[in-house]
Amino acid sequence: MRLHRGTPRQGPGTAEDVRWALEALGVSGEARVLDAGAGSGADTETLAEALPKARIEAVDASPALVAEARARLARFGPRVTVREGDMARVEGPYDLIWCAGALYFLGVTEGLRAWRGALAPGGAVAFSEPVYLTDPPSEAARAFWAGYPAITDLSGLEVRVRAAGYAVEAVRHLGPEAWRGYMDALEGRIGELEASGARPDDPALAAAMAEARAEVAAWRAAPGDIGYALVLARPA
Ligand SMILES: C[S@@+](CC[C@H](N)C(=O)[O-])C[C@H]1O[C@@H](n2cnc3c(N)ncnc32)[C@H](O)[C@@H]1O
Repeated sequence: MRLHRGTPRQGPGTAEDVRWALEALGVSGEARVLDAGAGSGADTETLAEALPKARIEAVDASPALVAEARARLARFGPRVTVREGDMARVEGPYDLIWCAGALYFLGVTEGLRAWRGALAPGGAVAFSEPVYLTDPPSEAARAFWAGYPAITDLSGLEVRVRAAGYAVEAVRHLGPEAWRGYMDALEGRIGELEASGARPDDPALAAAMAEARAEVAAWRAAPGDIGYALVLARPA
């Protein structure tokens, strides 16, 4: 948490991706929206700007990120709320559940199943998820995602979506531009912590920094090989 504190977002994605999803799904007006696993609220902010009449809830399990999101989103007033909690336990009803880079914590099929009952009639889920871009996956991709054995290519991801009783409506490939902001900020934060001398007296932080440095280096070595897909899905 110390490593990610103060970074603008905690996973790949851009404001343009959020706007694309809203347009493609036809979400507008007084929509009820959940940002599940919102982190420090980068996409919640874009959702709130793009949907000025919507009621938006952000939920995240990390108290530190929830505090950052609350500070960031205070300017929107009571129509945007941030809650510390488990995104698997949400009530709704929501017209849109947005989930950037967090559904894999629940499992794609398991998470989508858990959210079905929280969707309003006609409601949709938009989530982003790691994918292999080639079959077989490149060495670079395999190494980058070594900690996520459930990863598949896009067709495998679509199978997992359908297994939850949803139909895939559209998919957007998130390429290097979606990663750049996250990686640049993470690298900047590592540099800041090193400069502050935080590393020697905190072994857990030192380990997290080494892991993050390796993640950034692996991505910089082959950015075109590291895929993420933004999937729009509705109950079938
Ligand atoms: C990779 S970060 C993405 C954050 C944000 N969506 C973004 O794109 O910047 C994943 C987030 O999921 C949150 N998370 C993981 N499991 C969760 C759960 N069961 N309930 C709520 N949040 C969870 C983590 O705390 C973390 O903030």
